[in-house]
Amino acid sequence: MAVSYLVALFCASAGKNGEELGSDEEQVILFVYLLYDVTNNKVVALQQHYVKPQPNELSETVLTEECKTETGLDENMIKNGQPLDHVLEEFDRFLYSKGVHPDHGGKSFCFVSDGPNHIRQCFHPETCNKNINLPAYFNKYYDLRKEFKKYYKTDVIKNIKAMLDYLGLEGDQSVEYGVRQCQEMASIVHRLINDGHVFGESDIVSERLEPGICSKNEFVDDNSVVRARGLPWQSSDQDIARFFKGLNISKGGVALCLSPQGRRNGEALVRFESEEHRDLAIRRHKHHIGQRYIEVYKATGKDFINVAGGSNTEAQAFLSRGGQVIIRMRGLPFTATTQQVYTSLQVF
Ligand SMILES: *[C@@H]1O[C@H](CO)[C@@H](O)[C@H](O)[C@H]1NC(C)=O
Repeated sequence: MAVSYLVALFCASAGKNGEELGSDEEQVILFVYLLYDVTNNKVVALQQHYVKPQPNELSETVLTEECKTETGLDENMIKNGQPLDHVLEEFDRFLYSKGVHPDHGGKSFCFVSDGPNHIRQCFHPETCNKNINLPAYFNKYYDLRKEFKKYYKTDVIKNIKAMLDYLGLEGDQSVEYGVRQCQEMASIVHRLINDGHVFGESDIVSERLEPGICSKNEFVDDNSVVRARGLPWQSSDQDIARFFKGLNISKGGVALCLSPQGRRNGEALVRFESEEHRDLAIRRHKHHIGQRYIEVYKATGKDFINVAGGSNTEAQAFLSRGGQVIIRMRGLPFTATTQQVYTSLQVF
């Protein structure tokens, strides 16, 4: 079913923007959105919000010089902004008032944004860190660059400016940075629809880590794996998935490394569903879990198999029956019976 509304979404952070948006863990300070009516091929409304960063224990968030030059924003605008959760609530009310809220019998809408960074590298990780509940409609979006490449069969597109140039369109004259970006996305969308493009399948953000087992003989793409180091020793695979929130990890794609003594050593291998996601994961190098920073490096398919690869089919069968947890018990007496093991587990 074709989508009837699009929402062009744009955010800026207090640190890096553009290609490196989100890579320095800086908070979102600007959120702009534009509602587009696909059926009538026209802009319906546009809103801009300044977002007030949450005070940090260590330092007050200040805009970097790089950010000020790029965005034209200053500290005063941000100080008068609303916290992120309020801005998201306001956005939700906006959808409702326009009749496009998915939970209120609204017509369908889907986000469109310039590349994956805004949604995958900003909204998902930041709301996860701040314990803000991000509505499910943030799990779907169109990447305008991908749509553009698909339709015009070109490979040179890397940002909004390049798309405008390709189509011979003028840049927008708005003074405000985010407004300009949204208006320019709208004129590209307008042209795409005019030329006959249909927005079909969208990009989807996976919501949770699915359990799965990897066999020793499985092929694992070298461009899909990272090694994370410096993890708190008690981290579970779900904690690690949380660190990579916004990216699609493969089924059973988190393998915790063990030392030769069988203890966790603060390392894990993580397998993603595509090279694009692996590359986004690498940009989270030195991001934090609590006070610790986590190192993220490229790794190979073989590295993953070495830790995650199993050769027994019993575990596979167990998971396929809907089992969620497998434990390993060590130091059992040689004489232990199945019944004794079972009884010893009853205490849990
Ligand atoms: C991400 O995960 C979702 C849900 O699991 C899936 O539908 C989608 O195809 C995945 N996208 C990519 C790029 O792997």
